[in-house]
This record gives sequence, structure tokens and C-alpha cells, in this order.
Amino acid sequence: MSLRLAVLASGRGSNLQVILDAITAGTLDAEVVGAWSDRGDAQALVRARDAGLPAYAIRPRDFTDRAAHDHALFGALDAAAPDLIVCAGYMRLIGADVLASRAGRMINIHPSLLPAFKGLHTHQRALDAGATEHGASVHYVTAELDGGPVIAQARVPVLPGDDAAHLSARVLTHEHPLLLETLRWIAAGRVRLHEDGVHVDGRRADGPLQLAATRRFA
Ligand code: GRF
Repeated sequence: MSLRLAVLASGRGSNLQVILDAITAGTLDAEVVGAWSDRGDAQALVRARDAGLPAYAIRPRDFTDRAAHDHALFGALDAAAPDLIVCAGYMRLIGADVLASRAGRMINIHPSLLPAFKGLHTHQRALDAGATEHGASVHYVTAELDGGPVIAQARVPVLPGDDAAHLSARVLTHEHPLLLETLRWIAAGRVRLHEDGVHVDGRRADGPLQLAATRRFA
């Protein structure tokens, strides 16, 4: 049975698009049950609708507080019965109480080599720190912002003359295959979250899977 994905996105939706394209191409055994955003104008919602999928804006300003918004969002997600919730550029903090019951069933893609550069403006911060390497991580979501167990990473060189826009564009080209490969591993039942961390093929992983080491994604 294919993996049922619910995608949360606040903006452009290029990660959602590569998921949709891979499913159409038959290279990812999954289905997207819907897209949810905290913004009505998110391009991600347009992409979902163009693919004939349900797409919903659940806007924080329509709720009295964060807990009420979380409750509405996760109530809607639960009704769609996803196997996995994928945060693909979802820019809003989610409360610990709704996350607790979803351990191992929610992932996020973040544009840095976690644990470095959690939070916003990762590309500029990597440049400011003089990093020679940057990248992206896919991790399980926990209550700690960008702090959950890391499943896989893609490493990207920082090149002379890079600015945040160039570096961000280079990282994005690696984010897409990273997210897809991670989803394939999860869909195949090869990656799971246990109490002691991420397990791959039934064993505790000794570190994040590295996209560049393609044999580990065989
Ligand atoms: C990506 O860089 C992702 O890592 C970050 O937000 C961006 C989303 O891009 N969390 P897109 O909306 O999928 O194009």
C-alpha cells in the first residue's frame, strides 16, 4: 500500500512539486492526500490544486491562539488519515502537545546541516560563520525547533563569491532529491523512529544517511 502523505507548506512549494512529480512518474510509491498551509496565498496550494488535490489554508489569524490553530490544523490532518506528515517549507511553530502523539509520523526538511543553523536565514548565517560546507537535513519533528532526530543529509560546498541567494539555490537542488530519497526509504519501511533514535534496516543508525554516499541510498 502506498504511503499517504499530508504536506504542510507556507510558500513556494517546490518540495511539494517534486513529490507530486515523482508520484506521477512512478518513482515514489506514495499518494498526497492534501496540502495545508498557514497562508492563503501560498504557491504550494496552487500546485496542489493544479494536481487535482485538496488544498487548504488554515490561517492563524482566524483563531484566538496558537493552541486553537494547532487543534484545527491537526484535526483536519487526522481526518485525512495520513501515514506521514511532511513539513516542506512550513514556517510556523507547532505546539508540543499536538506533536507528542505523532512522534515518528512527521518529518521536516531544513536547509542546513543540523544541528548547525536551526531556525531562519540559514544560508546567510552559514556564510557569516565562514562555513565551507552547507546543506540540508530531513529530520523527524519534535517539540524542539529543527531539533528532532536527523534521518538524512545532503552536503553542499560553499563556493567563493557565494551570496545567500546563490547558496540557497544550490542547496535547493540537493534538497529535492534528498527529500525524495528519504521518502522512498520511509515508504519502503526501511527508516523508522525508535526511542533511541533513527533505525535504518532494523538497526540504530550511527548518523544521518548521506545523500552524496549514494550506495547508502541503494
Ligand atoms: C526549503 O528551503 C526548505 O528546506 C525550507 O523552506 C524551503 C521551502 O521551499 N524549510 P519550497 O516552498 O518547498 O520551495
